[in-house]
Amino acid sequence: QRKIILDCDPGHDDAIAIILAAARPELEILGITTVSGNAEIEKTTDNALKICDLVSLHDVIVSKGASEPIVRLRENAPGIHGESGLDGPELPEPSRSWSDEHGVDTIIRLVKESKEPVTLVPTGPLTNIGLALTKAPEIKDNIEEIVLMGGGTIGNWTPSAEFNIWADPEAAKKVFDSGLPIAVMGLDITHQALATKDVIHQVNQIDNKVAKIVGELLVFFASTYKEMFDFDGAPVHDVLAVAYLVAPELFKMKAVNIAVETKGEFTAGTTLVDLHGVTGRKINAKFGMELDVEGFWQLMIEALKKY
Ligand code: BDR
Ligand code: CA
Repeated sequence: QRKIILDCDPGHDDAIAIILAAARPELEILGITTVSGNAEIEKTTDNALKICDLVSLHDVIVSKGASEPIVRLRENAPGIHGESGLDGPELPEPSRSWSDEHGVDTIIRLVKESKEPVTLVPTGPLTNIGLALTKAPEIKDNIEEIVLMGGGTIGNWTPSAEFNIWADPEAAKKVFDSGLPIAVMGLDITHQALATKDVIHQVNQIDNKVAKIVGELLVFFASTYKEMFDFDGAPVHDVLAVAYLVAPELFKMKAVNIAVETKGEFTAGTTLVDLHGVTGRKINAKFGMELDVEGFWQLMIEALKKY
């Protein structure tokens, strides 16, 4: 079993990423930490707790992490995920509250305590991971890989920047410059995973509570993506990070150097993905290029049927 920590800002796609991870026996979720991103920190943390209730992750610690980016002012994304961060389905209030431990300290403690190396799976702004690596750089010795959703060669929050990296570029820079093995699901590949009408129909055919909620999440997410980007279906970005852990054969990856712009007047938060090696900079990441779309949805549908 691969030991993972989900660091997230649920968020429709973050929520579905948790649901997929909880369904797969190859993964052991050591903890869930939250960050401000799609919504304010209290909301993303409550949303994580609600999803844990839905999929019976009662014993997994949920810790509230950073409420603000390291340097910049906070911005959230109600236009995409609604005011709650998880608009659409009616979910009961969480049955428990978040841990007393700060998310950054939870990451540090869980990595140090684990007998086997831990994989970090960040699907929100990289604030918590950046802070953990700064506060306790020794945890690097027990991190197997960081598999994250963020960046790409195109943007969605500015013309060139993706939301997670844009929200906290200083934190992202710490992660990309850390020397750790990194796999990146950027917009280039996540935009291939569109939850179309046909996908939603398949989800709705599954007769259980979890699939019903996922269907409702996808309908809401698709409606804001239609409105904001004129997409036919919502890209389930964050789910790809989890899918990569269980079925890497569905992903065509390329070893590249990725640098994070922290200063540009117009380009802060942009990832410079050196696809052709023109910078001569050292390779620091595997970058998602192409997805086996059918295989990916099959994996997701099978996982939902298990609930
Ligand atoms: C990323 O931003 C959020 O809206 C999603 O949850 C995803 O992590 C996509 O840019
Ligand atoms: Ca997210």
